[in-house]
Amino acid sequence: MERTFLMIKPDGVQRGLIGKVIQRFEEKGLQLVAAKLVQITMAQAAAHYEEHRDKPFFGELLEYITSGPSFAMIWAGEEIIQVTRAINGKTNPVEAAPGTIRGDYALRKGVNVIHGSDCLESAEKEIANFFTHEELACFLYPA
Ligand code: CMP
Repeated sequence: MERTFLMIKPDGVQRGLIGKVIQRFEEKGLQLVAAKLVQITMAQAAAHYEEHRDKPFFGELLEYITSGPSFAMIWAGEEIIQVTRAINGKTNPVEAAPGTIRGDYALRKGVNVIHGSDCLESAEKEIANFFTHEELACFLYPA
């Protein structure tokens, strides 16, 4: 079964949106495989956002993502990348459609409630940055 890495960022955790966000993925029929609150270290953040290292907002991004606890998750299901990215909405919340997480709960590009992997390869790298194999649930009946 395909899996992805999703993370409720510090603004989403601070605003008490964990339950609402989880509900959207559960109701869609996806399966939660692992979840935990994490205080992201600078090293973890730099690895997670490595592809943005040369962007002007990189420093701001690291500062924000390490500013408080995030809620890291692994979800599984068919077409998981496409499905979760559609539920998350566009990165820029101003352009994100109503009904999506970012469309409903965010206003700023840099503070946009949720992160989702953009492909299966990134998902595996991001999962390895945040979870050990022992932290993953093993289901008899996959989603
Ligand atoms: P995320 O999916 O976590 O991956 C990279 C993040 O960079 C993205 O969400 C945004 O939160 C952030 N980002 C993208 N563009 C900008 C920008 N122009 N200014 C600040 N942050 C940005």
